[in-house]
Amino acid sequence: MLTIGIDLGTSAVKLLLMDGEGKILNVLSREYPLSFPHPGWSEQDPDDWIRETWTGIRELISGFDASQIGGIGAGGQMHGLVVLDENDQVIRPAILWNDGRTADEVDFLNDEIGKEKLSAMTANIAFAGFTAPKLLWMKKNEPENFARIRKIMLPKDYVNYRLSGVHCTDYSDASGMLLLDVKNKCWSEEMLSLCGLTKAQMPQLFESYEPVGTILPSVASVLGLPQNVVIAAGAGDNAAAAIGTGTVGEGGCNISVGTSGTIFISSEHFGVDKNNALHSFAHADGNYHLMGVVLSAASCNKWWMEEILKTGDFSGEQKAITPDKLGRNHVFFLPYLMGERSPINDTNARGTFIGLTMDNTRADMTLAVLEGVAFAIRDSLEIARSLGNTITSSRICGGGAKSPLWRKIFANVCNINIESIAAEEGPGYGGAMLAMVACGEYPNVKTIAEKFVQVTAVEKPDPSLVSLYEDRYQRFKAIYPSVKKLFPMLIG
Ligand code: XUL
Repeated sequence: MLTIGIDLGTSAVKLLLMDGEGKILNVLSREYPLSFPHPGWSEQDPDDWIRETWTGIRELISGFDASQIGGIGAGGQMHGLVVLDENDQVIRPAILWNDGRTADEVDFLNDEIGKEKLSAMTANIAFAGFTAPKLLWMKKNEPENFARIRKIMLPKDYVNYRLSGVHCTDYSDASGMLLLDVKNKCWSEEMLSLCGLTKAQMPQLFESYEPVGTILPSVASVLGLPQNVVIAAGAGDNAAAAIGTGTVGEGGCNISVGTSGTIFISSEHFGVDKNNALHSFAHADGNYHLMGVVLSAASCNKWWMEEILKTGDFSGEQKAITPDKLGRNHVFFLPYLMGERSPINDTNARGTFIGLTMDNTRADMTLAVLEGVAFAIRDSLEIARSLGNTITSSRICGGGAKSPLWRKIFANVCNINIESIAAEEGPGYGGAMLAMVACGEYPNVKTIAEKFVQVTAVEKPDPSLVSLYEDRYQRFKAIYPSVKKLFPMLIG
């Protein structure tokens, strides 16, 4: 049997076709636009996702025996607000995970409702990208749109809805709405009423590896798929990527270096850090996880290369960074190009180069960008460590993971082994694996992860570099607290 994995990303949908042994038979990616209608806002048209996913699936399976395809599983960008009216039509463009318009709503939730109460209801506090603050923003700023909402969905759930006709979501993605009681895996009635919502407006909850239904006959014929294809509930992209890298059960760790950067720690037990600096979410294996999120990761490097240096030769630029430069850079970069989530939770934070001198080269600045992202991930790693998690190694995935230099920087900044795996397509691979379980081909997520995921290379930390980077990290840590009061003044 074959399954299709969908990674509904921020810049593109990435699709893959996988066989029953975990072999990837085909991959492709199709881009769609991202719009920034105001500084700090970030939106997308859900119809663009559907158009590119449908075209992509047809292309993905062409030349293969489509009758063998048994299931589809998606991992998708999290937190995005998709609202449907009584005819299941999209009411307005989706407001995405990296949209920062909700500063007032976040302050209202964290300060007036109170972090303690929020954490008791949902296991999390409010962050600008989360879904509940977006709903409060809409209620205040677009009351006529808010009044028309019949169903609330997350991005990959909208794709699943269009595939199956079922209004569904899964626990991992729903965790990021700030509307789910994560520990007890049910909607928080208190939180829903605080946002002026009813349970009827929420999608049905599933475990990620459960089938939500089968493909609609009309969609099957448009896509050239069999009538009985199973649609798995799927997962938020980070949970799906963790499945795809075998980060399951107790104590696994995965670093994803995509548009956003995340550090994901899987656990068999529910847990929350006392400041809620890390997200406490359900995992796609049926358990839980903690996660720190850097809003701009590989996107910082892409911005620096394409917008500023005007080059597409990412690896050529990195070749100029000779080994003697590592751990000695006196230029620092704060990667807060879209504000920052973990652990500082500051929508006003901005990207910053600091420490420049006349002798600095282009290579020093490129290195500062790569290092700044690794330092920002280390901020979340330190919180996880302070909770008693012993993290000595991590899987790595996402576009940035393809860079050997960046992997080396992560290994030494974090002082952990960085493990590369055979299948680099984290969320799509995880989605295809979830579909295999949903189809009953494997009994559970752990079994399939153990069978499919292979570590192909390990980047080990080098003690002398670790100590140089420890010193650099301490300096990096001092920068944001010193400049943070300037950021609000720079805006507007
Ligand atoms: C996670 C988050 C991002 C998006 C990226 O909380 O906001 O990682 O899921 O697609």
